[in-house]
Amino acid sequence: MARLVIVSNRVPVPKGRAASQPGGLAVALKDALQGRSALWFGWSGQIGKGDGNDTPSILDAAGVRYATIDLSDAEHRLYYTGFSNGTLWPLLHYRMGLVEFRREEEEGYRAVNDRFARVLAGLLAPDDVVWVHDFHLFPLAAALRRLGVRNRIGFFLHVPFPPAALFAALPRGDGLLRDLACYDLLGMQTEEDSQNLRGALEGSGLAARVEAFPIGLDAEGFAKLAQRAARSADTRRLAESLNGRALLLGVDRLDYSKGLPNRFLGMERLLRRFPGHSRHVTFLQVAPVSRGELTQYRALRRQLDELAGRINGQHADVDWAPIRWITRATARASLAGYLRLARVGVVTPLRDGMNLVAKEHVAAQDPADPGVLVLSRFAGAAAELGGAIHVNPHDPDEIAEGLNTALTMGLEERVARWHDNTACLKTNSAAQWSRGFLAALNA
Ligand code: ADP
Ligand code: F6P
Repeated sequence: MARLVIVSNRVPVPKGRAASQPGGLAVALKDALQGRSALWFGWSGQIGKGDGNDTPSILDAAGVRYATIDLSDAEHRLYYTGFSNGTLWPLLHYRMGLVEFRREEEEGYRAVNDRFARVLAGLLAPDDVVWVHDFHLFPLAAALRRLGVRNRIGFFLHVPFPPAALFAALPRGDGLLRDLACYDLLGMQTEEDSQNLRGALEGSGLAARVEAFPIGLDAEGFAKLAQRAARSADTRRLAESLNGRALLLGVDRLDYSKGLPNRFLGMERLLRRFPGHSRHVTFLQVAPVSRGELTQYRALRRQLDELAGRINGQHADVDWAPIRWITRATARASLAGYLRLARVGVVTPLRDGMNLVAKEHVAAQDPADPGVLVLSRFAGAAAELGGAIHVNPHDPDEIAEGLNTALTMGLEERVARWHDNTACLKTNSAAQWSRGFLAALNA
């Protein structure tokens, strides 16, 4: 079998027992790589000499060779903080009002893609199959082709793709579409994203193969992890602290796409409009800090600090506070245990490519007494998880109503809804997702 070469901005180089990196890409590909020989290339996560040093650091672990390069301070600012996270991220999540465009950042983004291509070209064998991931690397195939690379190159976008009219607002967006058309296959999370990208390509007179490959989860593995974790000291500590109260749980990177302020407000509305829940529920939000160098992300943290303080101040009692929120990274096993404990999984992004946490909540449940998932209808996962309570995440009242329905739902309906959701997890695992994509790429 040809060697698989994964390319992504962030590379989850194994680091002993450190807390796992939050983020769907690392999680999905780790599951998908089990037991095959592969090379994984990308940024080391370190700021170093950058452009001056094109010799990658190499680490071999469990059949995977990890090859990474550092970015210089300027490369990091222009390519990662600037164009990837300041321009593309909000645009792809339909947030025009947050998009900032600077030509020097777009040029820095292209320069880092050219450098990635130069280093990667030196590591490739002729029959390697190359699989590039996410919006940081739109121009990579075009850059590799310019260097004479003839390998098959596929691309998967982990985040949404907006309608053509919205994408058209991006200065020099045509150039990015021409770059995307250089891939042999473009994989998207949902049919809607595929249609949007096809529309944008057609509008620019371009043609490419675009197909939906909704990302999956190693549900069985995660269920086992959750079962084991439920007996761990960590989960027991959380369970005891609840004192019999129902746990509502959110787990997300601290990102404005995740709809956290509305979620906090939804919790407030729940207490106001359905006061019977007061003192009987605890909402825990785990949200590790992400992209803290961007102003919008720092502002979001301040906003949530304020909201949590105000809501707790108004509703808490001497022995109970409705909201607990944690911004440090948490071990994956602990998260699995917490998700199993959650009576309600609260996943209300304003827009999300898939949202793996939604699937993890389903996988973690006790089949005999499952919790309920309250899910944004604008997460890619909503197309698959018909057993969830779907809400409009822009409306805190609708979130509150969803939470109330979930909290008051009888066992029979909970079990039926959980079975609905589980059926989809079984037919679409992480391994099936990667096999499906690679089979289509090789076809
Ligand atoms: P995104 O890719 O936008 O971060 P997803 O929900 O698709 O969103 O993926 C997030 C992944 O990161 C999930 O697998 C989740 O379990 C993991 N994760 C989220 N929060 C944490 C955390 N605090 N610590 C470790 N992993 C986390
Ligand atoms: O899934 C979206 C994504 O941007 C991934 O590419 C990335 O691993 C994750 O979110 C976390 O973001 P970052 O790499 O910027 O910390």
